[in-house]
Amino acid sequence: MGKAKSKPYVFAGSASVGLAKEICKYLKVPPGGLETKHFSDGETWIKINENVRGSDVYVIQSTSTPANENLMELLLIIDALRRASAEKINAVIPYYGYARQDRKDQGRVALSAKLVANLINIAGANRVITIDLHSGQIQGFFDIPVDHLQAKPILVDYVKGLHLKDYVVISPDVGYVKRARQFAADLNAPLAIVDKRRTGHNVSEVMNIIGDIEGKHAFIFDDLIDTAGTICNAAVALIQQGAKDVYVCCTHPVFSGDAFERISKAPLKKIIVTNTVSLRPKFKELKNLVVLSVAPLMGEVIKRIHNHQSVSVLFNEKL
Ligand code: R5P
Repeated sequence: MGKAKSKPYVFAGSASVGLAKEICKYLKVPPGGLETKHFSDGETWIKINENVRGSDVYVIQSTSTPANENLMELLLIIDALRRASAEKINAVIPYYGYARQDRKDQGRVALSAKLVANLINIAGANRVITIDLHSGQIQGFFDIPVDHLQAKPILVDYVKGLHLKDYVVISPDVGYVKRARQFAADLNAPLAIVDKRRTGHNVSEVMNIIGDIEGKHAFIFDDLIDTAGTICNAAVALIQQGAKDVYVCCTHPVFSGDAFERISKAPLKKIIVTNTVSLRPKFKELKNLVVLSVAPLMGEVIKRIHNHQSVSVLFNEKL
């Protein structure tokens, strides 16, 4: 076990105020003093209202909607902390946005996941802590340590607690099969796959369902719900093809565009998400939405990093 140090400083960006409060409660530390203002042209102004010289600091900010604004705010907070002589700056990014552009799948497109990693590096972060990256390889875009956490244990515990019999794990597309298989293994359930075709950004259609879903509770697992087209189309197809009912488990409730209207009309028994992204108030009206907190997990991880203890043991990895 490493040597315990003085308590960490935790600063909240405006995208993650609620989650940061919960994390501070877990760590028994007050939120760090931070002032955020905007010039009339929309530029962000940041001031750290604490002496952080020589300290280990944790900045909690998801780069969720509005993505550009929240990303810029994160960069400015890191820059301000670096210039205030913080010793180690840990960027805690529960939802790492801009991750979907992580490869050149056509000519002359940007690699936003890499660019954002560069920006966070250059701003002065010494470490990144994040949950369920859109693809694990994004860790390699950073030249600083990345602690890549999983919401899987939280989601799996919840599903087990429903005490349902005869369920099937659904991968919402072919790209997610590897991760869906891990959920299926943890839940001791079979796996079925939705053959999804994308016809444009945020536009998808279900072509086929591969696997036996007849009469079973279908649990779709995904890393993020954006416009909810993927999960709602999948739910309709699953019901049409004989599933008993449909549940969705997802880490990041990005919820943009027509997500609210789609989810309200879709045949979904429950939508189980985490609080990596703060929900807009109208989503709290959805009676079938369950929000699980990642604060105890993130708080524990911060405590362990701060005390130089293993993080992997939390995910049962043998070291
Ligand atoms: C796809 O690769 C992702 O895992 C999600 O399935 C997708 O981004 C969700 O987008 P939407 O909710 O807009 O269909």
